[in-house]
Amino acid sequence: MANLEEEISRRRTFAIISHPDAGKTTLTEKLLLFGGAIHIAGAVKSNKIKKTATSDWMEIEKQRGISVATSVMGFNYGDYKINILDTPGHQDFAEDTYRTLTAVDSVIIVVDVAKGVEQQTRKLMEVCRMRNTPVIIFVNKLDREGRDPFDILDELEAELKIAVRPLSWPINIGAKFKGVYNIFEHSLDLFTPDKQKATERVEIDDINSPLIDEAVGEADAAKLREDLELIEGVYPEFNVDDYLAGRTAPVFFGSALNTFGVKELLDCFVQIAPAPRPVQAEERMVNPDDPAFSGFVFKIHANMDPNHRSCIAFVKVCSGKFERNAPYKQIRTGKTLRFASPTAFMAQKKSIVDEAFPGDIVGIPDTGNFKIGDTITAGEEIHFRGLPSFSPEMFMYIENTDPMKSKQLEKGIQQLMDEGVAQLFIHQFNGRKIIGTVGQLQFEVIQYRLLHEYGAQCRWEPMSMYKACWIESDDPDALANFKKRKHQFMATDREGRDVFMADSRFVLQMAQNDFPKIRFHFTSEF
Ligand code: G4P
Repeated sequence: MANLEEEISRRRTFAIISHPDAGKTTLTEKLLLFGGAIHIAGAVKSNKIKKTATSDWMEIEKQRGISVATSVMGFNYGDYKINILDTPGHQDFAEDTYRTLTAVDSVIIVVDVAKGVEQQTRKLMEVCRMRNTPVIIFVNKLDREGRDPFDILDELEAELKIAVRPLSWPINIGAKFKGVYNIFEHSLDLFTPDKQKATERVEIDDINSPLIDEAVGEADAAKLREDLELIEGVYPEFNVDDYLAGRTAPVFFGSALNTFGVKELLDCFVQIAPAPRPVQAEERMVNPDDPAFSGFVFKIHANMDPNHRSCIAFVKVCSGKFERNAPYKQIRTGKTLRFASPTAFMAQKKSIVDEAFPGDIVGIPDTGNFKIGDTITAGEEIHFRGLPSFSPEMFMYIENTDPMKSKQLEKGIQQLMDEGVAQLFIHQFNGRKIIGTVGQLQFEVIQYRLLHEYGAQCRWEPMSMYKACWIESDDPDALANFKKRKHQFMATDREGRDVFMADSRFVLQMAQNDFPKIRFHFTSEF
């Protein structure tokens, strides 16, 4: 099994996350350039979901369609096999991003030096924290005017609730930006604002080396020494174990657009980022080097062409070797399935693969057999824990407007929910179906897809709702009493769990005060 172990240890599977516009796409592209996976700048850009198209979701879906190819970007870098999992930039698809984070072993967060920590970053970090995902932060756009790097570090620590440790340090910023000192490797990288040229590197054996003064001038060299002294005084020495445990985030500075600081980030990343880690199944911890194959579906990508209602199910390999045409068991249904044309994603190309290893993502063409969260194994009955559903932010009643097509509507809703497009709740009081989403866009997407893929028509009826929370209690009587008293606010989710639908913050607070024995959860996993 040495082969399996080697394959595992050289894999790095991660996602880049950021608030829109911080530079995720640009950074991804530059990483692909280093890996030789693409040869020209701009190749990834065209797949980006443009924020200008917010009202034009068809355009967004089209771009999402194209983006199947960039959903996973695999490439070799030195001895390493790197898999970057793309996450949609548009915040209405945040749920997609949460799920993608279940399939990665680490994360790189991009922050704009002028804007600091923004809302989307904060939210995504919460998901990382829940899973103790190791995080590296790249502070981007140093070629522009921005905030003082020490202020940025303070903000990262306070807003993202994680200890930080700079591993590179900028010399000035904006028009005066001269480069970064690489604390991790003790070298000085000088900035030349040129997108195609590699940076000039000066190896430094001692921070007092006159080479620094020669390179950046005496005043900036003195400031750099002062800053570094402060850093050494304030921040504990970098400890890889703290990073791997999700307690400390190393921070790099640079400019993705100018390919500056990106290679430093990548070189450090491959060294310290974790290889595929053990994954918790309900029954046991599954180690990547367990010889038998296991994996789970974390994303289902629908084809927008109504004539071919086909999907691609994205499977993360958790253990063993995945083989084409081998008999695998879908645990939820007990069915044995063989995958004749699984695809892998290398260098932006999709091609059929014969085998894949832990950390890899395999795309499986599907016609509606899979659900988000499905476990597939070589036979063992294990269940990987899915990502919790988060309390949606928008809610609408869904109503059938074509009574002749109620079956189609039913089926369409079921399948779209299996795909993870939105969450379905059934109101216990009036039996009506409620769809909860994280953004307005999903309602349009659902309505369109129901019509074009299932021939069903629906309309939305607004409802005032603040939050849906999953409730539980150790005291069955207290739970029964709560459900009785609040029966007009009770619903069930797709798994039949009790959900309290609070129509205002006030109602929720009152309920929390009045019913101390009830626990209210804002994610479905507790
Ligand atoms: P995103 O995926 O996180 O949404 O961000 P993206 O990479 O698309 O970057 C957002 C904008 O920021 C882009 O400009 C991009 O060129 C710019 N950018 C990225 N990195 C840097 C950097 O290091 N320095 C500077 N100055 N700008 C950077 P845009 O005008 O929106 O797009 P484009 O027309 O340039 O493609």
